[in-house]
Amino acid sequence: MTGVIVVGSGVAGLATALHLARGGADVQLVTKAGMADGSTRHAQGGIAAALFPDDSVESHAADTLAAGAGLCDPAAVDVLVSEGPARVRELMDLGVAFDRDASGALARGLEAAHAHPRILHAGGDATGLAIEIALIAAALEAGVRLRERTLLAELLVEDGRVAGVELLADGRREVLRADAVVLATGGAGRLWARTTNPDVVTGDGIAAALRAGAAVVDLEFAQFHPTVLAEGAPFLVSEAVRGEGADLIDLDGRRFVLDDHPDGELAPRDVVARSIARRMAEQGGRPVLLDATRIGRRRLEARFPTIARALAGRGLDWAAHPIPVAPAAHYLMGGIATDLDGRTSLAGLLAVGECARTGVHGANRLASNSLLEGAVFAARAAAAILAGEVDAAPALPSAPGPESPSALAAVQTFSRAALQRLMWDHVGLLRDGAGLAHAVAVLAAWQDALPRPQTVAAHEDAGLVRVALAAASAALARPGSVGSHFRTDDASAHARELVSAGAAC
Ligand code: SIN
Repeated sequence: MTGVIVVGSGVAGLATALHLARGGADVQLVTKAGMADGSTRHAQGGIAAALFPDDSVESHAADTLAAGAGLCDPAAVDVLVSEGPARVRELMDLGVAFDRDASGALARGLEAAHAHPRILHAGGDATGLAIEIALIAAALEAGVRLRERTLLAELLVEDGRVAGVELLADGRREVLRADAVVLATGGAGRLWARTTNPDVVTGDGIAAALRAGAAVVDLEFAQFHPTVLAEGAPFLVSEAVRGEGADLIDLDGRRFVLDDHPDGELAPRDVVARSIARRMAEQGGRPVLLDATRIGRRRLEARFPTIARALAGRGLDWAAHPIPVAPAAHYLMGGIATDLDGRTSLAGLLAVGECARTGVHGANRLASNSLLEGAVFAARAAAAILAGEVDAAPALPSAPGPESPSALAAVQTFSRAALQRLMWDHVGLLRDGAGLAHAVAVLAAWQDALPRPQTVAAHEDAGLVRVALAAASAALARPGSVGSHFRTDDASAHARELVSAGAAC
């Protein structure tokens, strides 16, 4: 056994490495930047699990399936919700101190589209950070070799199976061979001009999988978080704030989301994000307002200390005044197609967490299911590797190949900012066929023109273009609207929204 390489140091990568090391495998975890520089540490809301007597895995499954708009894989959802509680208890055993109420019972939050309050949180709104710290400590203790500032340049494919990785660190390339490679590289939020994701989130693992020929699906499903601070750099204002009672109001002070959905602020995330986008368009592009004033200063500071600090640092007093918010790219539902044990269409390659498409999220992820997915499928992928079961998964869904560009677009020079603007304008919250075809043409031209990457930034750029082209092509190939993929040239989607708006009145 030459060992296992895990790429990525968020909840999915660390948990996979930890289970592998505890099972006796030789594990090396590599990560592009610092250990805690990815998305996990920024997760505010918490981790969803049916742990309370008035809740059930059936209810959690029903909410997950409904949010996914009919496109979840029910078997994957069943795994997620039924194995979730044990994985959350495991995190507690590792030292994650989830918040408790005055009686000592686990505190639980409510977020959009959950029938029950079932979101555990730590440090108020610092759940991801608490999980990251506990997992790094446990991984080190279990003997995982951690290596920072090391980029995955390429997957090594020999005789149709993944046999290792080519890495780039300190300007040098290095080949490492392995029995199995696990991609846990997170999403690709940096495809868009406005995102909640930190700047390392450039879709590297998905791009490497695409280059190696692995099946990658559902990239047209990108989730935009509705409430991201619209003053200064984008900063997530957790959905849990709405769960605590904050309202979304327009510049006239009206709770406009009720026009679009009877659940108002706690409607599914894609519905709320679109509702905000439309209202913003009607008010000349100006952001809407999140009014958290009725929650009260003491509660806001105790329950959301991270957000309160960030707002205070920008001179905003949310206990006294509504704050400006607007949607931003947040989470990729699609990714590298896997079976229920993280196996991909390439032997020797597994994928876990946001870079994977397990089928649990369908067309729109339920809030606070992402940390849970990382923890649940990490354990399953590690078990498969320890059992030596790393052959290619049969019968995975596969996306159509990239659309060939219909016409040569007048192409501006590539820059990351130009790509992010193109994706925001044409492959964003609201799309249409003409805009998608334009994006495909520009991206295809950029992909042809980019030189072979030599630096970390150039690798990121090449990966971003590849993932963007796959996402734009997938969106162009799906003519109807479903979940987060909303096409303004789909008349039936308009009709459905008008009917549900009518029902809400
Ligand atoms: C949030 O706190 O609103 C984000 C949580 C999530 O994306 O699940």
